[in-house]
Amino acid sequence: MKTLLTGGAGYIGSHTAVAMLNAGHEVAVVDNYANSSAEAIARVEKITGKKVALYEADVADKERMMEILKAEMPDCIIHFAGLKAVGESVAKPVEYYRNNIDTTLTLLECMRELGLTSIVFSSSATVYGEDNVPPFTEDAPKGMCTNPYGWTKWMQEQMLTDAAKASAKGDDWKTPLSVVLLRYFNPVGAHESGLMGEDPQGIPNNLMPYISQVAVGRRDHLTVFGDDYDTPDGTCRRDYIHVMDLAEGHVKAAEYVIEKRKEAEARGEAAGGTEVFNLGTGSPYSVLEMVEAFGRACGHAVAYEIGARRAGDVQDSWADASKARAVLGWEASRGIDEICRDAWNWQSNNPQGYNK
Ligand code: NAD
Ligand code: UD1
Repeated sequence: MKTLLTGGAGYIGSHTAVAMLNAGHEVAVVDNYANSSAEAIARVEKITGKKVALYEADVADKERMMEILKAEMPDCIIHFAGLKAVGESVAKPVEYYRNNIDTTLTLLECMRELGLTSIVFSSSATVYGEDNVPPFTEDAPKGMCTNPYGWTKWMQEQMLTDAAKASAKGDDWKTPLSVVLLRYFNPVGAHESGLMGEDPQGIPNNLMPYISQVAVGRRDHLTVFGDDYDTPDGTCRRDYIHVMDLAEGHVKAAEYVIEKRKEAEARGEAAGGTEVFNLGTGSPYSVLEMVEAFGRACGHAVAYEIGARRAGDVQDSWADASKARAVLGWEASRGIDEICRDAWNWQSNNPQGYNK
């Protein structure tokens, strides 16, 4: 299978590139390095011993994307490219809507013109909003998002779903479109080699990179956002999933969608449509449990103090992961200790991230 990963130089995209190549598939990457560098792809090639077709381009640039897609004609596009910092999206909503929505619309236009069939999209558990009670199943209502980033995910899901619906009726599509929406829970950890991992710019917003930077001495201590929640230790609970498990979930999703099209075509039926999968472990851990586990992995306690709650945080979020297990034959296999071991291996070998 030939895959094209938009945003493939980023954290999840680069790990997915490794998993795709290891599974014997071809990989092309398009990235404008807005939040990454080509070094991540050099590491992908080093780990796998295989080549990636690498294009520096803005996915919202239609002329350029038509050239690239014509040259590659991928069986499946995996659309990671996007801006993802929640706080920044509140300060810069126009940039977030412009980038995240435009990249998706451009891809849909190109796919329609070229007759490309399949797209897997990076969505987020953030679309479940605040009103649902975990574990979240895929058919839980999409809630009211608390920030522009979340709304862009919500809207992109809707746009892709509507396009798949219209394409099934012919419209001006050459072929019915197959869409897979993957709702990630909390991706964490790093490739087990220690050569690749998360490399956030500036002060990390998310828990695991923050803990890692405290552990390696780049920051003084972690502030735990609230210990007065209605949970066993008072801190929020999340579904932390190892990034390599997540990456392998993309391989399964892309293989599934291509196989399903082939089977439908063999039966003379129309292929296409939208499917949604949660990618999570189904097991929640609290903030303090993560701090403790990281301390075990790095061999010393991680300094923290208790602070105020963070605006917009939900108390509990975890997946019902049974659909991905039943349909894709995928489930997360790496636990909290492997997550912390690999995050620490990456952080301690690359204290300043890539290129430093
Ligand atoms: P990331 O920032 O590491 O990767 C995104 C990549 O997209 C970067 O390499 C960036 O340079 C690139 N990019 C952004 N805009 C682009 C454009 N217009 N043209 C070309 N490239 C562009 O983020 P990530 O953590 O790897 O996330 C990947 C996707 O998964 C994103 O869509 C994100 O919203 C989604 N997601 C991430 C998380 C998470 O916790 N990391 C959770 C849920 C969903
Ligand atoms: C955040 C985003 C969410 C996004 C997800 C991607 C917010 C409000 N939500 O979710 O939209 O989809 O990242 O992974 O930003 N914590 C601390 N101290 C810190 C950092 C975090 O105590 O310095 C706590 C948080 O309060 C939370 C947990 O750690 O309880 C996890 O936080 P984080 O990694 O930011 O993920 P989410 O809150 O799940």
